[in-house]
Amino acid sequence: MRFFNDGARIRKIIAQQRAQRSPGRTHGGAGLNTLVLGGGGREYAIAWRLARCDSVLTIDAIPGTPAMSLFARLVDLPLDRADRIEQHIAASHIDLVIVGPDEPIAAGIGDALRRTGVTVVCPSRAAAKLEWSKSFAKDVMSEAGVPTASYRVFPDAATARLGLRDGPVVVKADGLAGGKGVIVARDRAEAEAALASNALSGGTIVLEEVLSGEEASLLALVDGETVVALPPARDHKRAGDGDTGPNTGGMGACSPTSALPDDLAQPLADRLIAPVARVLAQRGTPFRGILYAGLMHTAEGWKVIEFNARFGDPEAQVILPRLGGDFAKLMQALGDGRLAAYTHTNPVRFSQRAYVSVALCAEGYPGRPRVGDPITIGSLPDDVWTFHAASKRAADGSFVTAGGRVLHVVAQGDTPTHARERAYAAAERITWRGRFYRSDIAASEGRVEVTA
Ligand code: AMP
Ligand code: GLY
Repeated sequence: MRFFNDGARIRKIIAQQRAQRSPGRTHGGAGLNTLVLGGGGREYAIAWRLARCDSVLTIDAIPGTPAMSLFARLVDLPLDRADRIEQHIAASHIDLVIVGPDEPIAAGIGDALRRTGVTVVCPSRAAAKLEWSKSFAKDVMSEAGVPTASYRVFPDAATARLGLRDGPVVVKADGLAGGKGVIVARDRAEAEAALASNALSGGTIVLEEVLSGEEASLLALVDGETVVALPPARDHKRAGDGDTGPNTGGMGACSPTSALPDDLAQPLADRLIAPVARVLAQRGTPFRGILYAGLMHTAEGWKVIEFNARFGDPEAQVILPRLGGDFAKLMQALGDGRLAAYTHTNPVRFSQRAYVSVALCAEGYPGRPRVGDPITIGSLPDDVWTFHAASKRAADGSFVTAGGRVLHVVAQGDTPTHARERAYAAAERITWRGRFYRSDIAASEGRVEVTA
């Protein structure tokens, strides 16, 4: 099955975007006016997927990335100004808002925008605490009986230091830390060094047992106690081949993945995500949005490493292309609190095609990247896409680099191995000075047997 027919659909969207610039744009009617908040590869993937929905009339992005202007209108507003975003929602008759990044979610943008009456896919600040406080997530997991690493919570780094024992330990900052708040220390000395570092100074610290096993990302749509699994994916977090080097925002992803086969997605979501959703609902702070469980398949079975209150990046880049049906209507049902009824008549289906994404990065990433280098993109075959994350247009209209993870090459294939070959063949055709990528994304797919 060819899942999408890009050309015709993109042309239709462009025509619609032109029409949208004329006055008289209204709610619903001919289709949904949608708004994506955020501006990275994940948000590109969300907007790209919306562009493939018959129900969608227009797509706006705040701030988006310049390459998204092919199919979306970019609106230059700061994400911490909910008041200005509300004005835009009203003036542009937005019907559906999807929020991408962790920071505005943790700041409560979902609560602010919901007060305007628009449909918002974003958990409340109270429910999103599963992501912005690791000690809160641990507490909820233990109440819910969900397996996770054993842990101790300390008010600050100095107190945590007194609580250190010999041997390996995971040291975590309690709050959002932009991917820099987790150190897997091999011994006490490494843990002490971690606790002395800037990233962990200041707030609450969680010390955790070190787990080992394969990791996988299981995302679910959660509407109160209704939990609907999305296609599982595998992320590759370290900068270097063979999982070496520093942690990054994610160097590539694959779905489906042998680390967590599709047929385990719903049973594991029922076992590891639904109990947490129930506890939040019972506490009067139900979760409504995307709940991402980072899982590890340990010798004692599946355990939850962390929760995120949003789509993963780069998981979204391979999960969203696999979602069948009308994504915008599915998101609308989720945001409106009608997920159970909607998925009863429109069950979520996963495409049997495989998708692999490879992050092409600028020299220096994940430290300070070189920016401003001209990007050359050769001709790409069908069913290979570039999801831009940090590029911008030069004066002559060409693209230049503008950040660390510049763009994600996303390729479709019959199998993960096939998609991987196609992604890397395409990656070779996209160059700039100093660009690098991991060469082993999805390389281990198909080599392991996994059970529930
Ligand atoms: P987090 O930000 O919580 O996802 O952690 C980032 C990465 O640190 C995870 O993807 C794991 O690879 C690793 N990690 C976190 N917690 C543990 C743990 N308890 N045991 C082993 N590795 C962990
Ligand atoms: N891929 C990891 C994250 O989105 O947090």
